[in-house]
Amino acid sequence: MNSLVSVHNELYDFAAVRQQFPVLQQQIKGHPLVYFDNAATTQKPLSVINALLTYYSNYNANIHRGIHSLAEQATAAFEQTRDTVKQFINASEREEIIFTSGATESINLVAQTWGRQNIHEGDEILVSEMEHHSNFVPWFMLAREKKAVVKVIPVTEEGALRMDVFDELISAKTKLVAIVHVSNAMGVVNPVEKIIRKAHEVGALVLVDGAQSSVHLNIDVQMLECDFFAFSAHKVYGPTGVGVLYGKHSLLQSMPPYKGGGEMIKEVSIDGISYNDLPYKFEAGTPNIADVIAFQAALEFVNEVGKMAICTHETNLLKHAQQALSTIDGLTILGRSSEKISVVSFVVEGVHPQDIGILLDNKGIAVRTGHHCAQPLMKCLNIPGTTRASFAMYNTLQEVDVFVEALKKSVKLLR
Ligand code: ALA
Repeated sequence: MNSLVSVHNELYDFAAVRQQFPVLQQQIKGHPLVYFDNAATTQKPLSVINALLTYYSNYNANIHRGIHSLAEQATAAFEQTRDTVKQFINASEREEIIFTSGATESINLVAQTWGRQNIHEGDEILVSEMEHHSNFVPWFMLAREKKAVVKVIPVTEEGALRMDVFDELISAKTKLVAIVHVSNAMGVVNPVEKIIRKAHEVGALVLVDGAQSSVHLNIDVQMLECDFFAFSAHKVYGPTGVGVLYGKHSLLQSMPPYKGGGEMIKEVSIDGISYNDLPYKFEAGTPNIADVIAFQAALEFVNEVGKMAICTHETNLLKHAQQALSTIDGLTILGRSSEKISVVSFVVEGVHPQDIGILLDNKGIAVRTGHHCAQPLMKCLNIPGTTRASFAMYNTLQEVDVFVEALKKSVKLLR
Protein backbone atom coordinates (compact mmCIF):
# COMPACT_ATOMS: atom_id res chain seq x y z
CA MET A 1 0.00 0.00 0.00
CA ASN A 2 1.30 3.44 -0.90
CA SER A 3 1.50 5.96 1.87
CA LEU A 4 -1.91 7.37 2.67
CA VAL A 5 -0.53 10.42 4.37
CA SER A 6 -0.80 13.39 2.06
CA VAL A 7 2.11 15.64 1.25
CA HIS A 8 -0.33 18.29 0.05
CA ASN A 9 -2.63 20.46 2.11
CA GLU A 10 -5.24 17.77 2.54
CA LEU A 11 -5.47 15.83 5.78
CA TYR A 12 -4.62 12.66 3.91
CA ASP A 13 -4.38 11.46 0.35
CA PHE A 14 -8.08 11.20 -0.12
CA ALA A 15 -8.07 9.55 -3.53
CA ALA A 16 -5.62 6.92 -2.31
CA VAL A 17 -7.73 6.17 0.75
CA ARG A 18 -10.96 5.85 -1.22
CA GLN A 19 -9.23 3.68 -3.80
CA GLN A 20 -8.54 1.14 -1.06
CA PHE A 21 -12.27 0.38 -0.63
CA PRO A 22 -13.45 -1.75 -3.57
CA VAL A 23 -17.11 -1.70 -2.56
CA LEU A 24 -17.23 2.06 -3.06
CA GLN A 25 -16.27 1.77 -6.72
CA GLN A 26 -19.72 0.75 -7.92
CA GLN A 27 -23.05 2.08 -9.08
CA ILE A 28 -26.35 1.32 -7.37
CA LYS A 29 -29.47 1.69 -9.49
CA GLY A 30 -27.47 3.65 -12.05
CA HIS A 31 -25.90 6.07 -9.55
CA PRO A 32 -22.47 6.08 -7.88
CA LEU A 33 -22.83 4.50 -4.45
CA VAL A 34 -22.96 7.03 -1.64
CA TYR A 35 -22.43 4.94 1.49
CA PHE A 36 -23.69 6.82 4.55
CA ASP A 37 -24.53 3.83 6.76
CA ASN A 38 -21.16 3.66 8.48
CA ALA A 39 -22.59 3.60 12.00
CA ALA A 40 -24.19 0.26 11.09
CA THR A 41 -20.96 -1.08 9.62
CA THR A 42 -17.96 0.43 7.87
CA GLN A 43 -16.63 -0.75 4.53
CA LYS A 44 -13.40 -2.78 4.45
CA PRO A 45 -10.12 -1.73 2.85
CA LEU A 46 -8.26 -4.07 0.51
CA SER A 47 -5.68 -4.83 3.19
CA VAL A 48 -8.42 -6.39 5.36
CA ILE A 49 -9.87 -8.35 2.46
CA ASN A 50 -6.36 -9.52 1.47
CA ALA A 51 -5.55 -10.52 5.05
CA LEU A 52 -8.54 -12.89 4.99
CA LEU A 53 -7.52 -14.26 1.60
CA THR A 54 -3.91 -14.72 2.68
CA TYR A 55 -4.84 -16.52 5.89
CA TYR A 56 -7.14 -18.97 4.14
CA SER A 57 -4.81 -19.39 1.15
CA ASN A 58 -1.52 -19.72 3.02
CA TYR A 59 -1.71 -20.56 6.70
CA ASN A 60 -5.20 -21.68 7.74
CA ALA A 61 -4.73 -23.59 10.99
CA ASN A 62 -6.13 -23.74 14.48
CA ILE A 63 -4.31 -21.65 17.07
CA HIS A 64 -2.72 -22.27 20.47
CA ARG A 65 -2.91 -26.02 19.91
CA GLY A 66 -0.53 -27.16 17.22
CA ILE A 67 3.23 -27.18 17.10
CA HIS A 68 3.34 -27.37 13.31
CA SER A 69 4.42 -24.38 11.22
CA LEU A 70 0.99 -23.27 10.03
CA ALA A 71 -0.42 -23.39 13.57
CA GLU A 72 2.50 -21.32 14.84
CA GLN A 73 2.09 -18.76 12.08
CA ALA A 74 -1.66 -18.45 12.69
CA THR A 75 -1.18 -18.21 16.46
CA ALA A 76 1.43 -15.46 16.07
CA ALA A 77 -0.81 -13.45 13.74
CA PHE A 78 -3.83 -13.85 16.02
CA GLU A 79 -1.86 -12.76 19.09
CA GLN A 80 -0.36 -9.84 17.21
CA THR A 81 -3.86 -8.41 16.80
CA ARG A 82 -4.24 -8.56 20.58
CA ASP A 83 -1.11 -6.41 20.94
CA THR A 84 -2.37 -3.94 18.37
CA VAL A 85 -5.77 -3.68 20.08
CA LYS A 86 -3.97 -3.11 23.39
CA GLN A 87 -2.17 -0.15 21.82
CA PHE A 88 -5.31 1.08 20.02
CA ILE A 89 -7.16 1.60 23.32
CA ASN A 90 -4.02 2.03 25.46
CA ALA A 91 -4.70 -0.87 27.80
CA SER A 92 -1.84 -1.56 30.18
CA GLU A 93 -1.64 -5.31 29.53
CA ARG A 94 -2.40 -7.62 26.61
CA GLU A 95 -4.17 -9.99 29.07
CA GLU A 96 -6.86 -7.34 29.46
CA ILE A 97 -7.96 -7.79 25.83
CA ILE A 98 -10.59 -10.51 25.32
CA PHE A 99 -11.79 -11.39 21.84
CA THR A 100 -15.53 -11.95 21.49
CA SER A 101 -17.95 -12.06 18.58
CA GLY A 102 -18.88 -8.39 18.90
CA ALA A 103 -19.70 -5.58 21.32
CA THR A 104 -23.00 -7.29 22.13
CA GLU A 105 -21.23 -10.44 23.28
CA SER A 106 -18.67 -8.40 25.21
CA ILE A 107 -21.45 -6.75 27.22
CA ASN A 108 -23.30 -10.04 27.73
CA LEU A 109 -20.06 -11.60 28.93
CA VAL A 110 -19.78 -8.99 31.69
CA ALA A 111 -23.47 -9.34 32.61
CA GLN A 112 -23.28 -13.14 32.80
CA THR A 113 -19.98 -13.37 34.67
CA TRP A 114 -19.21 -10.29 36.75
CA GLY A 115 -22.93 -9.46 36.93
CA ARG A 116 -24.14 -12.86 38.12
CA GLN A 117 -21.34 -12.96 40.66
CA ASN A 118 -21.71 -9.44 42.03
CA ILE A 119 -25.28 -8.22 41.52
CA HIS A 120 -27.65 -9.17 44.32
CA GLU A 121 -31.22 -8.47 45.33
CA GLY A 122 -31.87 -4.74 45.70
CA ASP A 123 -28.64 -3.68 43.97
CA GLU A 124 -28.92 -1.00 41.33
CA ILE A 125 -27.58 -0.83 37.79
CA LEU A 126 -27.62 2.52 35.99
CA VAL A 127 -28.07 2.75 32.23
CA SER A 128 -29.26 5.63 30.07
CA GLU A 129 -32.27 6.18 27.90
CA MET A 130 -30.02 6.45 24.84
CA GLU A 131 -28.48 2.97 25.14
CA HIS A 132 -28.43 0.64 22.19
CA HIS A 133 -30.50 -2.45 23.05
CA SER A 134 -27.24 -4.37 23.49
CA ASN A 135 -26.40 -2.27 26.56
CA PHE A 136 -29.95 -2.25 27.86
CA VAL A 137 -31.46 -5.72 27.51
CA PRO A 138 -28.60 -7.72 29.16
CA TRP A 139 -28.93 -5.59 32.32
CA PHE A 140 -32.71 -5.99 32.49
CA MET A 141 -32.27 -9.75 32.03
CA LEU A 142 -29.73 -9.83 34.85
CA ALA A 143 -31.87 -7.63 37.11
CA ARG A 144 -34.88 -9.87 36.56
CA GLU A 145 -32.86 -12.93 37.56
CA LYS A 146 -31.28 -11.28 40.60
CA LYS A 147 -34.21 -9.12 41.74
CA ALA A 148 -31.99 -6.10 41.20
CA VAL A 149 -33.15 -2.71 39.91
CA VAL A 150 -32.22 -0.99 36.66
CA LYS A 151 -32.44 2.78 36.83
CA VAL A 152 -32.44 4.85 33.68
CA ILE A 153 -30.77 8.24 33.19
CA PRO A 154 -33.14 10.32 31.05
CA VAL A 155 -32.18 12.32 27.98
CA THR A 156 -33.06 15.95 27.22
CA GLU A 157 -34.92 17.01 24.08
CA GLU A 158 -31.53 18.07 22.67
CA GLY A 159 -30.25 14.54 23.14
CA ALA A 160 -27.98 15.12 26.12
CA LEU A 161 -27.87 13.01 29.26
CA ARG A 162 -29.67 14.54 32.24
CA MET A 163 -26.58 14.72 34.40
CA ASP A 164 -28.60 16.38 37.17
CA VAL A 165 -30.74 13.23 37.34
CA PHE A 166 -27.65 11.03 37.13
CA ASP A 167 -26.38 12.82 40.26
CA GLU A 168 -29.65 11.96 42.00
CA LEU A 169 -29.73 8.34 40.85
CA ILE A 170 -26.19 7.36 41.70
CA SER A 171 -25.81 6.12 45.27
CA ALA A 172 -24.12 3.52 47.41
CA LYS A 173 -26.72 1.06 46.06
CA THR A 174 -25.34 1.48 42.51
CA LYS A 175 -23.10 -1.44 41.62
CA LEU A 176 -22.63 -0.73 37.93
CA VAL A 177 -23.08 2.10 35.45
CA ALA A 178 -23.39 0.79 31.87
CA ILE A 179 -23.15 3.75 29.57
CA VAL A 180 -22.76 4.35 25.86
CA HIS A 181 -19.76 6.52 24.95
CA VAL A 182 -21.38 7.83 21.75
CA SER A 183 -25.05 7.42 20.88
CA ASN A 184 -25.50 5.31 17.76
CA ALA A 185 -28.82 7.01 17.03
CA MET A 186 -27.71 10.65 17.42
CA GLY A 187 -23.91 10.74 17.48
CA VAL A 188 -23.68 12.71 20.75
CA VAL A 189 -20.63 12.07 22.90
CA ASN A 190 -21.43 11.46 26.56
CA PRO A 191 -19.33 12.86 29.43
CA VAL A 192 -18.06 9.41 30.38
CA GLU A 193 -15.04 10.76 32.29
CA LYS A 194 -17.36 12.56 34.70
CA ILE A 195 -19.66 9.53 34.97
CA ILE A 196 -16.73 7.22 35.72
CA ARG A 197 -15.35 9.54 38.39
CA LYS A 198 -18.73 9.87 40.14
CA ALA A 199 -19.45 6.14 39.89
CA HIS A 200 -16.10 5.29 41.44
CA GLU A 201 -16.78 7.72 44.27
CA VAL A 202 -19.72 5.50 45.36
CA GLY A 203 -17.83 2.27 44.67
CA ALA A 204 -19.68 1.38 41.44
CA LEU A 205 -17.97 -0.02 38.35
CA VAL A 206 -18.42 1.41 34.87
CA LEU A 207 -18.83 -0.40 31.58
CA VAL A 208 -18.42 1.85 28.54
CA ASP A 209 -20.09 0.77 25.30
CA GLY A 210 -17.58 2.01 22.75
CA ALA A 211 -19.24 0.52 19.67
CA GLN A 212 -19.58 3.93 18.03
CA SER A 213 -16.75 5.84 19.72
CA SER A 214 -13.84 3.50 18.98
CA VAL A 215 -13.69 4.40 15.29
CA HIS A 216 -13.99 8.16 15.75
CA LEU A 217 -12.34 9.11 19.05
CA ASN A 218 -8.95 8.40 20.56
CA ILE A 219 -9.61 5.78 23.20
CA ASP A 220 -7.40 5.61 26.26
CA VAL A 221 -8.89 3.18 28.78
CA GLN A 222 -6.19 3.99 31.33
CA MET A 223 -6.97 7.68 31.18
CA LEU A 224 -10.72 7.02 31.27
CA GLU A 225 -10.21 4.59 34.16
CA CYS A 226 -13.27 2.65 32.96
CA ASP A 227 -13.59 -0.87 34.32
CA PHE A 228 -14.85 -2.41 31.08
CA PHE A 229 -14.84 -1.16 27.50
CA ALA A 230 -16.63 -2.99 24.66
CA PHE A 231 -16.45 -2.51 20.90
CA SER A 232 -16.79 -4.31 17.55
CA ALA A 233 -14.22 -4.70 14.79
CA HIS A 234 -16.70 -4.26 11.95
CA LYS A 235 -17.35 -0.65 12.92
CA VAL A 236 -13.60 0.08 12.75
CA TYR A 237 -13.14 -1.03 9.11
CA GLY A 238 -12.54 -4.62 10.26
CA PRO A 239 -14.46 -7.83 9.63
CA THR A 240 -17.77 -8.81 11.19
CA GLY A 241 -17.81 -11.42 13.94
CA VAL A 242 -15.05 -9.95 16.10
CA GLY A 243 -15.50 -7.92 19.24
CA VAL A 244 -13.27 -6.75 22.03
CA LEU A 245 -13.86 -6.70 25.73
CA TYR A 246 -11.35 -4.71 27.71
CA GLY A 247 -11.45 -5.25 31.46
CA LYS A 248 -9.11 -4.28 34.26
CA HIS A 249 -6.84 -7.22 35.02
CA SER A 250 -7.90 -7.66 38.65
CA LEU A 251 -11.57 -7.69 37.66
CA LEU A 252 -11.15 -10.19 34.85
CA GLN A 253 -9.07 -12.32 37.18
CA SER A 254 -11.84 -12.42 39.78
CA MET A 255 -14.62 -13.20 37.31
CA PRO A 256 -15.81 -16.73 36.57
CA PRO A 257 -15.51 -17.94 32.96
CA TYR A 258 -18.27 -17.18 30.47
CA LYS A 259 -18.39 -20.29 28.28
CA GLY A 260 -16.96 -23.70 29.02
CA GLY A 261 -14.97 -25.64 26.45
CA GLY A 262 -11.56 -26.08 24.97
CA GLU A 263 -8.77 -23.55 25.53
CA MET A 264 -10.38 -21.89 28.56
CA ILE A 265 -9.14 -24.62 30.90
CA LYS A 266 -5.82 -25.52 32.49
CA GLU A 267 -6.71 -29.02 33.60
CA VAL A 268 -9.83 -31.12 33.36
CA SER A 269 -10.53 -34.30 35.25
CA ILE A 270 -13.65 -35.91 36.63
CA ASP A 271 -12.52 -34.62 40.01
CA GLY A 272 -12.27 -31.00 39.06
CA ILE A 273 -11.54 -28.34 36.50
CA SER A 274 -9.06 -25.48 36.71
CA TYR A 275 -9.30 -22.52 34.40
CA ASN A 276 -6.76 -21.04 32.06
CA ASP A 277 -4.95 -17.74 32.62
CA LEU A 278 -6.15 -14.48 31.14
CA PRO A 279 -7.15 -13.78 28.46
CA TYR A 280 -7.79 -17.39 27.42
CA LYS A 281 -10.14 -18.09 30.34
CA PHE A 282 -12.75 -16.12 28.39
CA GLU A 283 -12.01 -17.49 24.92
CA ALA A 284 -13.54 -20.97 24.89
CA GLY A 285 -13.49 -22.99 21.68
CA THR A 286 -11.91 -22.17 18.33
CA PRO A 287 -12.16 -18.40 18.01
CA ASN A 288 -12.83 -16.40 14.86
CA ILE A 289 -9.18 -16.72 13.81
CA ALA A 290 -9.36 -15.31 10.29
CA ASP A 291 -11.34 -12.24 11.22
CA VAL A 292 -9.24 -11.45 14.28
CA ILE A 293 -6.12 -11.64 12.09
CA ALA A 294 -7.73 -9.38 9.46
CA PHE A 295 -8.73 -6.90 12.18
CA GLN A 296 -5.02 -6.20 12.58
CA ALA A 297 -4.96 -4.84 9.02
CA ALA A 298 -7.94 -2.59 9.76
CA LEU A 299 -6.28 -1.09 12.83
CA GLU A 300 -3.05 -0.56 10.91
CA PHE A 301 -5.03 1.19 8.18
CA VAL A 302 -6.69 3.54 10.70
CA ASN A 303 -3.36 4.20 12.39
CA GLU A 304 -1.68 4.98 9.08
CA VAL A 305 -4.32 7.47 7.98
CA GLY A 306 -4.37 8.87 11.51
CA LYS A 307 -7.34 9.16 13.84
CA MET A 308 -6.92 12.90 14.27
CA ALA A 309 -6.94 13.48 10.52
CA ILE A 310 -9.95 11.19 10.10
CA CYS A 311 -11.78 12.99 12.89
CA THR A 312 -11.08 16.42 11.37
CA HIS A 313 -12.30 15.25 7.97
CA GLU A 314 -15.46 13.68 9.40
CA THR A 315 -16.21 16.79 11.46
CA ASN A 316 -16.05 18.86 8.26
CA LEU A 317 -18.54 16.48 6.66
CA LEU A 318 -20.83 16.68 9.69
CA LYS A 319 -20.78 20.48 9.82
CA HIS A 320 -21.43 20.73 6.09
CA ALA A 321 -24.32 18.24 6.31
CA GLN A 322 -25.91 19.87 9.35
CA GLN A 323 -25.67 23.29 7.73
CA ALA A 324 -27.23 22.09 4.45
CA LEU A 325 -29.95 20.04 6.15
CA SER A 326 -31.01 22.96 8.31
CA THR A 327 -32.25 24.71 5.15
CA ILE A 328 -34.91 22.02 4.62
CA ASP A 329 -38.30 23.11 5.89
CA GLY A 330 -39.69 20.95 8.71
CA LEU A 331 -36.45 19.02 9.22
CA THR A 332 -35.21 18.57 12.78
CA ILE A 333 -31.79 17.18 13.63
CA LEU A 334 -31.62 15.08 16.77
CA GLY A 335 -28.71 15.46 19.11
CA ARG A 336 -27.67 19.05 18.53
CA SER A 337 -24.62 18.92 20.72
CA SER A 338 -21.22 20.43 20.01
CA GLU A 339 -19.76 17.13 21.27
CA LYS A 340 -20.75 14.93 18.36
CA ILE A 341 -19.19 12.44 16.02
CA SER A 342 -20.11 12.30 12.34
CA VAL A 343 -23.68 11.07 12.62
CA VAL A 344 -26.63 13.17 11.52
CA SER A 345 -30.01 11.79 12.48
CA PHE A 346 -33.16 13.68 11.60
CA VAL A 347 -36.91 13.67 11.24
CA VAL A 348 -38.91 15.53 8.62
CA GLU A 349 -42.37 16.71 9.52
CA GLY A 350 -45.08 14.71 7.76
CA VAL A 351 -42.65 12.28 6.11
CA HIS A 352 -41.91 8.72 7.23
CA PRO A 353 -38.16 7.87 7.52
CA GLN A 354 -38.63 4.59 5.68
CA ASP A 355 -40.07 6.38 2.62
CA ILE A 356 -37.05 8.70 2.64
CA GLY A 357 -34.73 5.68 2.86
CA ILE A 358 -36.36 4.00 -0.13
CA LEU A 359 -36.21 7.11 -2.32
CA LEU A 360 -32.59 7.77 -1.37
CA ASP A 361 -31.69 4.18 -2.22
CA ASN A 362 -33.18 4.75 -5.68
CA LYS A 363 -30.42 7.37 -6.06
CA GLY A 364 -27.72 5.02 -4.81
CA ILE A 365 -27.58 6.59 -1.34
CA ALA A 366 -27.41 4.23 1.64
CA VAL A 367 -28.69 5.56 4.98
CA ARG A 368 -30.27 3.78 7.93
CA THR A 369 -33.87 4.45 8.87
CA GLY A 370 -35.91 3.33 11.88
CA HIS A 371 -35.34 3.10 15.61
CA HIS A 372 -31.63 2.17 15.34
CA CYS A 373 -32.01 -0.50 18.08
CA ALA A 374 -32.65 2.33 20.53
CA GLN A 375 -36.39 2.09 21.13
CA PRO A 376 -36.31 3.68 24.62
CA LEU A 377 -34.70 6.79 23.09
CA MET A 378 -37.29 6.95 20.30
CA LYS A 379 -40.06 6.67 22.89
CA CYS A 380 -38.55 9.46 24.96
CA LEU A 381 -38.25 11.70 21.90
CA ASN A 382 -41.78 10.66 20.91
CA ILE A 383 -40.86 9.63 17.39
CA PRO A 384 -41.14 6.27 15.57
CA GLY A 385 -37.66 6.56 14.13
CA THR A 386 -35.24 8.75 12.23
CA THR A 387 -33.24 8.87 9.04
CA ARG A 388 -29.55 8.56 9.89
CA ALA A 389 -26.58 9.46 7.72
CA SER A 390 -23.25 8.47 9.23
CA PHE A 391 -19.90 9.39 7.69
CA ALA A 392 -16.54 7.67 7.50
CA MET A 393 -13.02 8.55 6.39
CA TYR A 394 -13.77 7.85 2.71
CA ASN A 395 -16.87 10.05 2.36
CA THR A 396 -16.70 13.40 0.55
CA LEU A 397 -18.30 16.83 0.75
CA GLN A 398 -19.55 16.23 -2.76
CA GLU A 399 -21.38 13.10 -1.56
CA VAL A 400 -23.00 15.17 1.19
CA ASP A 401 -24.25 17.60 -1.49
CA VAL A 402 -25.63 14.73 -3.59
CA PHE A 403 -27.40 13.37 -0.51
CA VAL A 404 -28.92 16.73 0.49
CA GLU A 405 -30.16 17.40 -3.05
CA ALA A 406 -31.71 13.92 -3.28
CA LEU A 407 -33.28 14.39 0.14
CA LYS A 408 -34.81 17.72 -0.86
CA LYS A 409 -36.37 16.09 -3.94
CA SER A 410 -37.62 13.12 -1.89
CA VAL A 411 -39.24 15.34 0.73
CA LYS A 412 -40.94 17.38 -2.00
CA LEU A 413 -42.30 14.19 -3.54
CA LEU A 414 -43.48 12.70 -0.26
CA ARG A 415 -45.24 15.76 1.15
N1 ALA B 1 -25.71 -0.71 16.00
C1 ALA B 1 -25.69 -0.53 14.60
C2 ALA B 1 -26.36 0.75 14.16
O1 ALA B 1 -26.43 1.67 14.91
C3 ALA B 1 -26.16 -1.71 13.85
O2 ALA B 1 -26.80 0.83 13.04
